[in-house]
Amino acid sequence: MNKWSTKKSVELFKIEKWGQGYFEVNTKGNLCVKPSPDSPYKVDLKRLIDELRSRKVQPPVLIRVMDILKDRLKLLSRSFNDSIKELGYKGKYFPLYPIKVNQQRTVVEAMLKYGQNVGLGLEAGSKAELLLVLALTENINTPIVCNGYKDEEFVELVGMAHKMGKKIIPVIENYSEVETFIRHYKKTGVMPNLGIRLKLFTKGAGQWASTGGESSKFGLRVPEVVNVIDRLAEEDLLNHLKLLHFHIGSQITDIKVVKNALTEASRVFIEMIKLGANLEYIDVGGGLGVDYDGSARETFSTINYTLQEYTNDVVYRIQQVCDQHGVPHPTIFSESGRFLAAHYSLLITNIQTTGGYELKAYTKGQISAESGPLKEMIDLRTGVTEENYLEAYHDAIQYRQEVRNLFNYGYVSLRDLAGSESLFSEIMEKILEVAEEMEETPEELWELQQSQVDTYFANFSLFQSLPDSWAIDQVFPIIPVHQLGQKPTRKAVLVDLTCDSDGKITDYIGDEEDNSFVHLHEVQPGDQYYVGIFMIGAYQETLGELHNLFGDTHSVQIEILGNDKYRLSNFTKGDSVKDVLGYVAYNAKELIGKMRAQIERAVERKKLTLDESAHLMDQYEEGMFGYTYFEE
Ligand SMILES: Cc1ncc(COP(=O)(O)O)c(C=O)c1O
Repeated sequence: MNKWSTKKSVELFKIEKWGQGYFEVNTKGNLCVKPSPDSPYKVDLKRLIDELRSRKVQPPVLIRVMDILKDRLKLLSRSFNDSIKELGYKGKYFPLYPIKVNQQRTVVEAMLKYGQNVGLGLEAGSKAELLLVLALTENINTPIVCNGYKDEEFVELVGMAHKMGKKIIPVIENYSEVETFIRHYKKTGVMPNLGIRLKLFTKGAGQWASTGGESSKFGLRVPEVVNVIDRLAEEDLLNHLKLLHFHIGSQITDIKVVKNALTEASRVFIEMIKLGANLEYIDVGGGLGVDYDGSARETFSTINYTLQEYTNDVVYRIQQVCDQHGVPHPTIFSESGRFLAAHYSLLITNIQTTGGYELKAYTKGQISAESGPLKEMIDLRTGVTEENYLEAYHDAIQYRQEVRNLFNYGYVSLRDLAGSESLFSEIMEKILEVAEEMEETPEELWELQQSQVDTYFANFSLFQSLPDSWAIDQVFPIIPVHQLGQKPTRKAVLVDLTCDSDGKITDYIGDEEDNSFVHLHEVQPGDQYYVGIFMIGAYQETLGELHNLFGDTHSVQIEILGNDKYRLSNFTKGDSVKDVLGYVAYNAKELIGKMRAQIERAVERKKLTLDESAHLMDQYEEGMFGYTYFEE
């Protein structure tokens, strides 16, 4: 067998593919994070987690790598500007950060800071998001685009923001909104610039395909677009219609869809201008995908294009259609959220225990038999070879069944039955070891391969930290952050701390054949073994929920200053039990009071001694103010 190396781990875990140059393995076999792919600096994540523990910040902990956020924004702007230059496009490009992707204060404030020199704007999709965005855009020139449903109050707020001089463009998402704006104008004399969201015929590709296309929830179909134009013209307000918007869904997997959507939207743009609209902006929405699994398989977790290809296509298609009709090139906005935020945050969790397939320990030295199927299995355990592994497979299945039958007839003891089951596991493992060295695994063994996995209990909640893994089977890179110089010999399925049988990760970046498990190292009781869950910066941080009352994890922001030199800030303590109980309307003081009363009664009835009652009360209170996850 070839010697294992960190290089093999890099390949196995596809680190270079999904990691996009932000992650690499050092000579110690630890995973490191980098501020940007071309930076000479890196921070060893194992060392970071050890140092966090020294500060009493225990896993699970969410690590926010701010440099990555900055780098992604730079990449996006640079790529659009390169396309603009290369193609001789006359308009400008500005990125909009759609805050729905991650509304965390740390993220939005960082975006605004890093975005100053690229003219970054914000996109708000609800009233709450609008209120937040209005306060945060202290620079009056920051573009604001408002999507989502708009009631009278929303329209009024937008009107006032416009009066203040903010560059705000509300986008009409359904026909009735145009009437609300007209009513508001008639009442106040204020009409902001408007956008219109187009429902394209082009449908997206991938998990979010239904966000686009004719049956999508949002946007106006062509007849409605024409009606809006006529209606605004009737009120002599058509010169306020400045922006055409579309969004064909998040994580577009196929570049063809982008090309088609751009051609269709650009044609509508031109025709709207012909109808008298004074359009200056085209907003191409979100959808720019990221490669979560690096497999290039046809799944919605991966994409078939590069950033440059995407920006070239966007710019080229708009330019081509405008040039055909002699229309000036519009300013381009994009609302790429996932692309900007996905890579920047990761969760480090520790493995609590492993189980499931650890049956073989039982057999060590405890089992003997003179004859019969059990004896055959004992012999088989050391007799699996390249020549006979399939035969051994068939034999073992038969012997195990014979022992089970003998047990049912009363001829085999429970201890011997246990021995047979354990031996069987051990033999299967040997068979698989041999089979894996072969060029192709025989089909007969595929099922066996899938069943030979260990359950690794990880200290986190899937529902809180990785909701899309549960809700839509999205794949995220999950890999050990240390020991990468050693072969990960176990096939594992990660389960969380909730008591929900759905609290289990079923899809991994895997390989072409099987993505139902992740390769991990053997973990002995007492070992500290850390696993990182990566690319969770988009959508996961705020979609998470309180299943089984597991709350927010601890989180910390890191800026990389040099090799293993970093600045930590914005430590946010994860929810305590008191906090999560508060979310569901319980009062910690009241609960402590109720508990004390019950303990007092137990003392009265002499069920507890005074010392025991004091100890229990201490424990209860400590638990109430402690972390919702396992603590050491
Ligand atoms: C209107 C709109 N803009 C932008 C986005 C962000 O999309 P993405 O994260 O795929 O870039 C979304 C999300 O679905 C959206 O609905």
